[in-house]
Amino acid sequence: MDPVLNPYVPGAGRRPAALVGRDDAINSWSVALQRAERGITDQPIVLYGLRGVGKTVLLTQLRHDAEQRGWLAVQVEAGSSSSLREMIGEGLYGPLSDITRPSAGKRLLKALKTAVSFKASYDATGTWNFGIDLTGEPGGGADSGRLETDLKKIIKDVSQAAADEGGGLAVLIDEAQDLTKDELVTLAVASQAAAQDNWPVLFALAGLPNLPQILAEAKSYSERFKYVHVERLAPAEAREALVRPAQEVSVTWEQDALEYVIDQSGSYPYFIQQFGQEAWNAASDATITLGDAQLGVARGHQQLDNGFFRTRWDRTTKAEKDYLRAMCPEGDTGIGSGEVANRLGKPIGKLGPRRSSLLHKGLIYAPDHGVVAFTVPGMSGFISRQSE
Ligand SMILES: Nc1ncnc2c1ncn2[C@@H]1O[C@H](COP(=O)(O)OP(=O)(O)O)[C@@H](O)[C@H]1O
Ligand SMILES: [Mg+2]
Repeated sequence: MDPVLNPYVPGAGRRPAALVGRDDAINSWSVALQRAERGITDQPIVLYGLRGVGKTVLLTQLRHDAEQRGWLAVQVEAGSSSSLREMIGEGLYGPLSDITRPSAGKRLLKALKTAVSFKASYDATGTWNFGIDLTGEPGGGADSGRLETDLKKIIKDVSQAAADEGGGLAVLIDEAQDLTKDELVTLAVASQAAAQDNWPVLFALAGLPNLPQILAEAKSYSERFKYVHVERLAPAEAREALVRPAQEVSVTWEQDALEYVIDQSGSYPYFIQQFGQEAWNAASDATITLGDAQLGVARGHQQLDNGFFRTRWDRTTKAEKDYLRAMCPEGDTGIGSGEVANRLGKPIGKLGPRRSSLLHKGLIYAPDHGVVAFTVPGMSGFISRQSE
């Protein structure tokens, strides 16, 4: 069938034609936005789950929902070389310039001046010019060099300016497990201060399944965060993710084709998109049959092996690959690191560096003390298909 009309979009962060099964998180964010507009600030929301379940897509949806209500929003991804300070600073520039105008009110002028000082705190060569003379305005001072002080200041001033525009400030951070401990602590402290003083700001974090644990270790009052486990879809939701986009262009899935794709995908959103895309391309007319589905799944597996799995596998050393192999097949759910050491015939202490390097690369996580698991669903199947 015409690939131009193909509605399925496998790929990191790509918005699906039908975003299904996430109503609870979307609704509770909507409630939080409305409460903040009325002067009550709720705790941060933390989305956590395996790779490919749809955290980034959901986080982006939350940002759009905030923007739709006239909020100022900044969405950043941790894990690159930039610090939290720099990511937030650079992320705020665009939205702030968008609302800047000659008739800017007092609180916006103050926020702009604070933003200029925040920029100076990490970038000695760059300056921001919002096209407005800020001399004599209050604000500034977000350049003490102490992250907690500076972050609180910029968040307070910008959120209060955003409130004048009818909304508030939304700060969304993806891959939050890659923030440093100091950054996480600072975020926890800043969000706590925001809630206490009802600054109109909301935080949303997304990250791997160990994010709640990392937060708990970082700061004791992280229990006040609102945790949302982003999981594979329920079968009815998986069906909807496939059927609804097809229906919109008068394409139908035969029942057995649909069930086959859902079963093979394990209801993981990434796999649903990948198999859906290939099954569509295999179909010769506006009905997707079981034969098309079977061909689609086979081709989809190839695509996943060459992309989704391969990119991660290729980032590991030979010794790390041995470790990952020794985790199979139980690694999809979790296996004791002692057992991995046994299988490799090495003392557990010797494997510490390998384990932490794999943790650092985001290939494995620790679901429990002394346990390791793959961050990618289906990784053990992929590994078993690789020759030595
Ligand atoms: N709720 C959903 N319904 C259908 N497809 C989804 C959903 N969430 C995500 N996807 C699809 O899954 C894939 C992975 O999404 P992404 O947000 O990048 O996952 P993560 O950030 O958890 O790794 C994308 O192709 C996306 O279109
Ligand atoms: Mg993601």
